This record gives sequence, structure tokens and C-alpha cells, in this order.
Amino acid sequence: MAKRPAMTIARTRKEARQWRAAMREAGKRVAFAPTMGALHEGHVSLIRLGLAHADVAASSIFVNPTQFSANEDFSTYPRAEQADLDALAEAGCSFCYCPNPTEMYPAGDSTRIIVKDLSHILEGEVRPHFFEGVASVVARLFLHIGPDVAVFGEKDYQQLLVIRRMTQDLGFPIEILGGPTIREADGLAMSSRNAYLTADERACAAEVSGTMHDSAAAIEAGQPIRAVTDAAAARLMANGFASVDYVEARRADTLAPFGAEIAPAGVGGRLLIAARLGKTRLIDNMAFVRK
Ligand code: PAF
Repeated sequence: MAKRPAMTIARTRKEARQWRAAMREAGKRVAFAPTMGALHEGHVSLIRLGLAHADVAASSIFVNPTQFSANEDFSTYPRAEQADLDALAEAGCSFCYCPNPTEMYPAGDSTRIIVKDLSHILEGEVRPHFFEGVASVVARLFLHIGPDVAVFGEKDYQQLLVIRRMTQDLGFPIEILGGPTIREADGLAMSSRNAYLTADERACAAEVSGTMHDSAAAIEAGQPIRAVTDAAAARLMANGFASVDYVEARRADTLAPFGAEIAPAGVGGRLLIAARLGKTRLIDNMAFVRK
């Protein structure tokens, strides 16, 4: 197992379990924030949130092939392991699991985790393979690392709900925390894929968060949901977006539609947007409640 000054790096499940056993022996509560690398301030905030709920923080860097379809960016996804390890160590992370692919998917691997229903709406309609890949890799990471707490960004809100459901259904003894979305100064949600934006696209990209805030405010004020979300999609298209996959206002707990023209008062809602700018797909979401 290679040692850096402040952080242990494991490449096999055996090494990961050895580190976890040492933490258990030392009576340390472990928080875990998994990543696919290409770290930004949003990932660092998840490590810090984990440290506020545990004694030590662990992370992982693994670009998970099963959550990409054949026409997506698996081969070009940004990879910068050394810079990522430095950023994790700097953030106070004690351990990083960078598994060899065969540790996650051994030869002949044929086991997948499917969280029904929640995985097949919204993001799951556009990317049908995605949540099966996420659940399958996160379950493996949980088994290899065995954290007490795991932290996921609210930027991927549907992913957070899928993982909560899986954790509950499979009985992982892990507390799942959601970390607030970290934004650039102009409101754009931080994402590793923002690196794909050209300068012109980057100038337009903040329109997603502006549209989202205005739409959530309109729904909170009692405007009809469908009229607001249709206007939001039209606004994005008028501002240079190539297409809009969805703009939806849903119940925050289940992502089910409200089933009413106007959001019911006092029920937590989530406004979710996915739109394409050039070749880059941007997603964002925020909470709302009609008074
Ligand atoms: O959110 C991500 O970066 C990934 O989906 C995750 C949770 C690390 C699984 O590969």
C-alpha cells in the first residue's frame, strides 16, 4: 500500500479493508465521499461535510464504466489522479481508494443493483443505464470501505435519492448525507463536465441557475407548474441551449409529480433541469415550498 504524508492510497479491496479494520481498531468513525476524480470545490465541500460528522474522511477516485453508455464520454472523462490526490490530502482526507478496474468488476462479473422506479424517471429516461451503474458501483464501494457516513452532492439530487433508497433496502449500516451544491460566482453549479464548455458556452451556462431560481420562485408564488416549466424551457432555448431534456417540478421526497396544477402549500418540492449547451449536458436542481 503506497503511503503519502497525510493520506493512505489503496488500489485493491484487500488494502481498503485493511485500512478500514485499522480505523475500527482505533475507534474512528469514517466518513466517505466517492468521486470520479476531476475534483473541484464541490468535492472538497463533501470531504469537509464528512469530517464534521466523523473522525476521519475517506474518498475514492474511479471513473465507473457501467454508468456511461457507449455514446457517452467515458474515454474522454477528465482524469488527473495526482492533482486529485493532492486536493483530497489538502482537504483533510486520510484515505483514498483508487481501485484497479478488476477490483470493482472482476472477470466474469455479472452482478448489478437496480433501484426500481426512481431509476427510470427524469435522468433515467434520458440515460437509462445510469442509475444501475451508479448503484452497482456505490454498493461495491460501500462493501470495500464500510464507512459509517457517506456524503453525496445535492447537485445530483436524483442520484442522492437512489443511493438513500438502495442503502435502506439493502440494510447498509451507513448514514447518507446530502451536501449543498457549490456554485461559481455567476451561479453555475460546479461540475467536472463544465471543463467541456467553450468560452461562449460558459458565458451562457449560468442561465440554467437563473432560470431555475426564477421558476422555483414563480411556483412558490402559486403560478401553474406546467406554464412555468414550459416558459423555463423556452427561455433556455432562446439563450443558446441546443436542447432541453426536462424542466420539472416534483415532490422532493419521491420525485413523483404533484398531480395538481399548482404546487400544494407546505409540501417540499424540487425544481430539476437538464439541458444541453453545445456538446455539454448541464443539470441542476433546487428546493422550493409554496407558502
Ligand atoms: O457522483 C459521482 O461522481 C458518481 O456518480 C459516483 C457517486 C462517484 C459513482 O461513480
